[in-house]
Amino acid sequence: MSPRQLHARDLLVQLDRSRRAELGRQLEQQLRSAIRSGTLAPGSDLPSTRTLAEDLAVSRGVVVRAYAQLAAEGYLDLRQGANPSVRGIPFVEPRVAEVSSPAAVQKIRYDLRPHQPDLGGFPREIWLRSLRHALTRAPNADLGYIDPRGLEQLRVELARYLGRVRGIRANPERIVVTTGSTHALSLIARVLASRGAVMGFENPSHWLFFAVAEQAGLTPIGIPVDGDGIRVDSVRAAKVNAVLVTPAHQFPTGVALAADRRAELTLWARESGGLIIEDDYDAELRYDRAPIGPLQGLAPDRVAYIGSANKTLSPGIRLGWALLPDDLCDSVVEELGKSVLHLSGIDQLALADFLRRGEFDRHIRRMRLVYKRRRDALIEALEAELPKLRVSGIAAGLHVVVELPPSVAEADVCAQAAARGLAIESLSDHALPMYEGPAGLLIGYAGVLEPTMPFAVAELAAAFRASERRPVRRAAS
Ligand SMILES: Cc1ncc(COP(=O)(O)O)c(C=O)c1O
Repeated sequence: MSPRQLHARDLLVQLDRSRRAELGRQLEQQLRSAIRSGTLAPGSDLPSTRTLAEDLAVSRGVVVRAYAQLAAEGYLDLRQGANPSVRGIPFVEPRVAEVSSPAAVQKIRYDLRPHQPDLGGFPREIWLRSLRHALTRAPNADLGYIDPRGLEQLRVELARYLGRVRGIRANPERIVVTTGSTHALSLIARVLASRGAVMGFENPSHWLFFAVAEQAGLTPIGIPVDGDGIRVDSVRAAKVNAVLVTPAHQFPTGVALAADRRAELTLWARESGGLIIEDDYDAELRYDRAPIGPLQGLAPDRVAYIGSANKTLSPGIRLGWALLPDDLCDSVVEELGKSVLHLSGIDQLALADFLRRGEFDRHIRRMRLVYKRRRDALIEALEAELPKLRVSGIAAGLHVVVELPPSVAEADVCAQAAARGLAIESLSDHALPMYEGPAGLLIGYAGVLEPTMPFAVAELAAAFRASERRPVRRAAS
């Protein structure tokens, strides 16, 4: 199969079967707009009529007619004995989406932001089955005001899932259902602020997390990160009472916390009574290294473990969890109850059913393969276009780090990339003051189809070359 050949699922076609007579028109329209927007890049090979018809459960004639119409309009090349391919057309419209990062709002053609999972991979039909199951089976009480911690059915399923996948012995009584990691952090941060705590953050780490902590009344202290993860000597020196870490896959550098640092950090927590907030946000998404166990197992009474379905399933789900030590749990539940009462019981029941049926595990296994293919396509394209740049943080997650030489300013490459319709982020987007690490770009690959990757990376390389020609602006000393 050619490297540019798409699978039917990559086309993201969604047919509304209640309009049976118009299935062909729907297929045609969706393929046309994907080609016009650049989502289906010129040169991509589409599935054969037979394969696509089987995958979409429509008759072959429907696909034949749709392809023929698009060929007549100049969008497709139909060749005897070969799959149809997308023609290079001069009227491609940029794909329009909003950038919601610290960078300016831009119109973007290639979304390479590091947080973005593959939204097209969301298992809509399977989720719908769980939602339907939840609604038809739920006792009336579950549709009313519920325990602010979340419904017991979900907390029990989450405890099983965390045991099965992350080796955690979780007591469902100590699990709190949140809208995600950010929400869990905001609740914990409010409790810590009310206790007068000082909180440290890996520097760099997710910019939103600092903002949330500040909103809660804390002053975030940046703790340096090196190739082995957070510097525990600096945690001690900073005299913080709590520290947020991403040990399995440091965000954004992609390093894993080394074994001796894990032991040192838990020792710090025990000796000082400090709290470790462990954000295990994408632990399941690893490709070529063995899973790294959570810190939580080393010091359950000193670790607040937070996780989320928003990256593994979809940010639209807005469901996550926190497994909390005794001395924090009640206060966090109180904060949650005071702010949002509780989260949607219906969505919680749907996630509980999705977990119980093993669909969450299956979805992650499926997406791991998709993401690994996309990551490999990105690395291959980077090797071809930017062979001199070091690429790191590739073993897990949804993005890689492309390190920049001192001769090129990060801000220049980002501006050049934005001008070419690329949405990317940089290490300094996620840096607190005193950040002294390397400059680099965060390139996400989860939402970009493999055949499109070389086009996106060619634009990135052009942005890099244009920045190389500019003199580097140095800060006045
Ligand atoms: C470091 C990190 N933690 C957690 C999350 C997930 O956050 P939430 O569950 O609030 O969507 C993300 C999402 O991008 C992230 O980058």
